[in-house]
Amino acid sequence: MERKIIVANWKMNGSMPLVESFGHAMGKLADTLPEAMELVVCPPAVYLRGMAQALGESRVRLGAQNCHAEAVGAHTGEISAPMLKEAGAEYVILGHSERREQQGETNAQVRAKAEAALKSSLIPIICVGESLAERESGTAIDVVVKQTKASIPTNHQPPTANHFIVAYEPIWAIGSGRIPEMGEIASMHRAVADALLSTTGKNIPVIYGGSVNEANARAILTCDGVHGALVGGASLKAESFVAIAAAAA
Ligand code: PGA
Repeated sequence: MERKIIVANWKMNGSMPLVESFGHAMGKLADTLPEAMELVVCPPAVYLRGMAQALGESRVRLGAQNCHAEAVGAHTGEISAPMLKEAGAEYVILGHSERREQQGETNAQVRAKAEAALKSSLIPIICVGESLAERESGTAIDVVVKQTKASIPTNHQPPTANHFIVAYEPIWAIGSGRIPEMGEIASMHRAVADALLSTTGKNIPVIYGGSVNEANARAILTCDGVHGALVGGASLKAESFVAIAAAAA
């Protein structure tokens, strides 16, 4: 079975009781899934240690939702990649469209953060995606390929092939219950994978995000070129998150 990466993006949701109940449930449920299924949970950074404890010996990995490009310094309120690593994270989501929109993050900043993450041996999950206007005007593929090339790290010689992951998330599909046609997802993933191969010389995994749920997970995860999913709303319950992963098995 092809390796699939299923990532839970909790955004600014959760509480200590939820971390504990989710972590305990996930710890058990994850063992029922095939080895080829990589599960990553990204709670708010303050819950990383608690989640690690609640997950216990489970094979579920931990990730964060952002990091600063510098390792230390006068950046009040920020968290650096080495700090996330120390708290137990192995992955970090970068350049989510909510951050690009609400914090004004640019491609150059996302690239700098991805490079900082790699230095700390964190695997960046770099988010890209088009707006509804761009989808409707037929420029989605062009826009997303350009955004991808400008947001990925410039060092392509790290030790492993999976040194970063790209998450294709159409902005209009996030939290809306609307998803692209399967053919549109397949063409976008092919275009992004080709751009990544020509830029880096490597086959970089491209996962899909935006309104993934238990009902559509199988169609999306078996779609050509889809190497996993980034799940928001449906990832707050261990049972639905695991059901999404099971749909790909
Ligand atoms: P959603 O969010 O699954 O709630 O649409 C996905 C994301 O924003 O990563």
